[in-house]
Amino acid sequence: MLIPTKKLSSGFELPVYGLGLWQMGGRWEADASKDDDEIRAIRAALDAGITHIDTAESYGNGHAEEILNKALQGYDRSKLIIATKVSANNQTYDGVHKSFKASLERMGLDYVDLYLLHRFPEPGIDIADTMRAMDELVEQGLVKNIGVCNMTPNRFDETQKHTKNKLVCNQVHYNVQYREIEDKGVLKHAQENDVMLVAWRPLQKGILPQSALLDELAKKYDKTPAQIAINWLTSQDNVVTLSKTSNPEHLKENLNAIGWSIEADDIERIRKEFPDQQMVSDAVPLNYDADVEV
Ligand SMILES: NC(=O)c1ccc[n+]([C@@H]2O[C@H](COP(=O)([O-])OP(=O)(O)OC[C@H]3O[C@@H](n4cnc5c(N)ncnc54)[C@H](OP(=O)(O)O)[C@@H]3O)[C@@H](O)[C@H]2O)c1
Repeated sequence: MLIPTKKLSSGFELPVYGLGLWQMGGRWEADASKDDDEIRAIRAALDAGITHIDTAESYGNGHAEEILNKALQGYDRSKLIIATKVSANNQTYDGVHKSFKASLERMGLDYVDLYLLHRFPEPGIDIADTMRAMDELVEQGLVKNIGVCNMTPNRFDETQKHTKNKLVCNQVHYNVQYREIEDKGVLKHAQENDVMLVAWRPLQKGILPQSALLDELAKKYDKTPAQIAINWLTSQDNVVTLSKTSNPEHLKENLNAIGWSIEADDIERIRKEFPDQQMVSDAVPLNYDADVEV
């Protein structure tokens, strides 16, 4: 399947749906017990046409990147968009270079398409030093594009001030239930500043609350509630998404969530009427402790 893409005015382009590797290869510690299944799941996604793969140095303490290395053997790397992230505590000038080199080695790659700050740097780390290192990686041709995660407009703008490269994306917790990024103006900021908003946790880990509205719309569009939830994201300007699945049925379901669009009225109905909306992420709240106030 050819996954539709979204393209910014800057020319940066991402498929509307990509595969995330959080919880593949362990959580915060490496867990190799399911490597074979996870390699199979990544290859199933690649075979189905997924080209955007998202990982991080912290996923499984580096093991997700090692699994990805094995999964990519035999595939045409030039057709893929591989994204990885440097953790907030590794964002000193030397730390960025060291983390990047280690990620590249674990993944067995000679460049990364998208290198992201996993959060705004920890207090005590100067964002100017962080971005000087990020710019050098771009200059050296080791990184094609840079971006951020989990940033308010304020932190995004502060980060942008310290790099000569355009920050192409902000990866944030966004789904039908979790709306902090609407509440804090992150969605509007992305749409007004030619930034791709990459929505993580689109299915709230598969545990979105039961919703009569999603059921009604699922019937109307002849889709499942999960497909409506994914399409609600990708039908919005500048929004693409990433989900993790190791289950072939879920992969099929999620891929059938794209390539069509919910009508604008229904997007707004979900925005207003979805039950139990939360204005603060239960995973990475945007006002986490960092140098620049929200
Ligand atoms: N930048 C950040 O701070 C940050 C934070 C969190 C996540 N992320 C990225 O975003 C990606 C996606 O987020 P996520 O993995 O946390 O959340 P998610 O994709 O909403 O949820 C993944 C979970 O939902 C299940 N699932 C997938 N499709 C399903 C379906 N159709 N029906 C029912 N359950 C389904 C998966 O189980 P099965 O494997 O059994 O299908 C998995 O347990 C991550 O993998 C990661 O790459 C980034």
